[in-house]
Amino acid sequence: MKTAFKFSKATVLVTGGSGFIGSNFIHHVLGRKSFSGRIINLDKLTYAGNPENLSGVEKFGSRYVFVKGDICDAACVKGIFAKYKIDCVVNFAAESHVDRSIHGPAEFINTNINGTFCLLEAAREFWKDNPATRFHHVSTDEVYGSLGPKGKFKETTPYDPRSPYSSSKASSDHLVSAYAHTYGLQTTISNCSNNYGPRQFPEKLLPLMILNAQDGKNLPVYGDGLNVRDWLYVDDHCDAIRLILEKGVPGQTYNVGGGCEKKNIALVRELCAALEKLAPSAKNAALGGRKYLDLIIHVPDRPGHDRRYAIDFSKIKRELGWQPSHNFKEGLLATVEWYLSNTGWIANIKSGSYRKWLEKNYSNR
Ligand code: NAD
Ligand code: DAU
Repeated sequence: MKTAFKFSKATVLVTGGSGFIGSNFIHHVLGRKSFSGRIINLDKLTYAGNPENLSGVEKFGSRYVFVKGDICDAACVKGIFAKYKIDCVVNFAAESHVDRSIHGPAEFINTNINGTFCLLEAAREFWKDNPATRFHHVSTDEVYGSLGPKGKFKETTPYDPRSPYSSSKASSDHLVSAYAHTYGLQTTISNCSNNYGPRQFPEKLLPLMILNAQDGKNLPVYGDGLNVRDWLYVDDHCDAIRLILEKGVPGQTYNVGGGCEKKNIALVRELCAALEKLAPSAKNAALGGRKYLDLIIHVPDRPGHDRRYAIDFSKIKRELGWQPSHNFKEGLLATVEWYLSNTGWIANIKSGSYRKWLEKNYSNR
């Protein structure tokens, strides 16, 4: 039996690895010379899971394994623990979109709560009396609720989730903490702010706006557009999670943020400026002579829309030496460039179930 956990040599079960952050994390970890371990990606391939997000990982041979399956399926999860002798879980798998949770919360309760419970039970069974293991749970700043004009979320901020999505994530965080306290499971949790970057599904603000702008469609800003989010480039988030796995202390929670607060309307305006620079509206026939800025409209607000999020990431900075390394302007340009040059990825998504869901729920956009 191994006595100490070493992430760089671990067999890691990544759940939800075919989604936005999970796929960026797998590329990030396998691409590092210091990592000689193995990744087993368990993903159900919901509308948000895209095998194309992992193109290129074939070159790692048997160090990358894909299993199509559901984290709520106990037999499947236990089978993976037994077959691959898992010594680390990084749990990304979730229903992740707030708007969808408002339209239909059931799947959020199932995957985010029951799925996390199922993973914890497998870990409890297979890691009994084994200290050389780690369960990292990827969570969100939305569990802390909504801020007024001042202040930031700290690890000690009381939980106050306000949407079905954030409530389901808060429940899963509590379950993870309970397994640490009750059964001694070696767990860590990260609560992160809004990510942006390549491979984000175009239901989230930035990619939705990029695709709509390219098609000459409206850019729908909810309410007055003055809600504030704290933006972090996805690779910085992946870096934080890797550092937590390498150096973090079991039982601890780490807040991860970009130190980059933006009002939604200001962000969309910045995006329009980036698009004018990289793909001028004057050369895009779909705009018919309009500028990208002309496409901005205000639409009815999201029910229960949290006003402001901001993260105090001083703990992970002080204890693990992490801080964001991408500045927003460069990260935004890199993101827009990625979407402009990956037209095949976009075409495949547009022809899929995503469009049907959008048409049903947002026929006015
Ligand atoms: P995503 O929606 O892009 O990807 C989710 C992935 O999970 C998909 O590949 C999907 O197929 C898979 N999945 C869903 N249900 C599953 C199930 N039952 N079994 C197995 N796989 C399943 O999400 P994301 O934006 O990459 O977020 C990943 C995690 O990070 C989530 O837990 C989310 O709560 C958290 N998070 C996201 C952000 C953000 O800004 N996107 C910020 C903080 C935290
Ligand atoms: O804070 C972390 C969270 O960030 C993650 O836990 C979630 O998984 C992730 O989806 C994200 O949640 P948000 O609700 O903040 O992200 P979204 O991209 O949906 O919206 C960002 C802001 O933009 C929010 O204030 C709502 C607004 N918005 C969103 C969309 C899709 C609009 O104004 N118009 C839109 O069309």
